[in-house]
Amino acid sequence: MQTPNYKFITEQLLALIQQDPYFVPALSNASALLWESLEDINWAGFYFVREDQLVLGPFQGKVACIHIQKGKGVCGTAWEKDEVQLVPNVHEFPGHIACDSASNSEIVVPIHHQDRVVAVLDIDSPLFDRFSAEDREGLLLFASLLSETLIWE
Ligand code: SME
Repeated sequence: MQTPNYKFITEQLLALIQQDPYFVPALSNASALLWESLEDINWAGFYFVREDQLVLGPFQGKVACIHIQKGKGVCGTAWEKDEVQLVPNVHEFPGHIACDSASNSEIVVPIHHQDRVVAVLDIDSPLFDRFSAEDREGLLLFASLLSETLIWE
């Protein structure tokens, strides 16, 4: 599997955001862009911070759980710790929430606005150990563009 060209993906994301930076269309197309651009994934999308839990946002893939408590699962952990969670084997992650039983590895990246986590980007794969350090760097770039350019309310 080739490492995705995150520079090109992020340029495409910027072109989409420039058409309308409101978070609903931007994140809808952001999930579709990741879905088209990354190999061997079975879910790509966003959860929003709403009060004391995460709530499902725009995504591509199978129907997913709607609410995730802070600190629960990979997404809730990424939010609580405010750090990327790169999980080579989700079955070994305490409290992993299995929305799709096909998922074997996962990466979750926090997204910030005004110094707070406002959302997380979540990508699942049916392969074990699907996500590399290059994916982490590329997705941090992707998330920082969302942080800096979107209109969040
Ligand atoms: N696996 C995630 C839940 C979200 S689904 O993967 C879409 C978790 O453990 O937080």
